[in-house]
Amino acid sequence: MVIKNAQFVISNTDVAKCPAPTLPEFAFIGRSNVGKSSLINMLVNQKSLAKTSQKPGKTRLINHFQINQEKDKPDTGWFLTDLPGYGYASVSKTDRDSFQKIIDSYILKRENLQCLFVLIDSRIPPQKIDLDFLNWLGAKGIPFILVFTKVDKQSSNKTASNIAKFRKQMLTTWENIPQQIATSSVEKTGRDEILAIIQDILDGYEDEKVEDED
Ligand code: GTP
Ligand code: MG
Repeated sequence: MVIKNAQFVISNTDVAKCPAPTLPEFAFIGRSNVGKSSLINMLVNQKSLAKTSQKPGKTRLINHFQINQEKDKPDTGWFLTDLPGYGYASVSKTDRDSFQKIIDSYILKRENLQCLFVLIDSRIPPQKIDLDFLNWLGAKGIPFILVFTKVDKQSSNKTASNIAKFRKQMLTTWENIPQQIATSSVEKTGRDEILAIIQDILDGYEDEKVEDED
């Protein structure tokens, strides 16, 4: 997959006000400060399409971007979505609850959502908050991919060992585990893998459309 262009479309807190669900959509989610906005910028090769910050709680809205729109054809390409982070202790409880509501309603109601990329910090042991979120996705039947972030900050052995721990923990409740990708927004690790997954799903989406039209 080649990223030819990427534009900001709209930000809001209300899933009903998101762009019409006419294009396949991929969203990035995970704890606040895990690196969602940075990963999006890395994928689209732009420094600051999505706003990043060292301070947790930067992204407070559902942000839609449109990727690979063809010239003068508004309904082409696909949507990429940057979401607020869940459950960071230093964000106030009111903010945390409001982000959670936005996230839950987005995930449950966004009909064109193809796959969620759930970001996990590769540097820390499995966290209850991430596992609880994944279990909730499982219960709701939402497809997702696991993305381990910030691998440039440690040795590849440490990353492998933390991913293994995460897998082991998940296997206590899951029969099998979705695909896992190790990423660094600084070194562009994992970019090709993520874009290949998106391309695969888009190919399937096009096939389905053709079948519908028959
Ligand atoms: P919220 O919007 O607050 O939920 O955070 P976010 O998940 O969007 O995180 P963001 O992309 O803003 O990154 C948080 C911090 O981590 C920033 O200081 C980034 O520069 C840093 N960061 C993100 N990804 C990486 C990475 O792959 N490697 C390194 N070294 N730093 C990273
Ligand atoms: Mg962000």
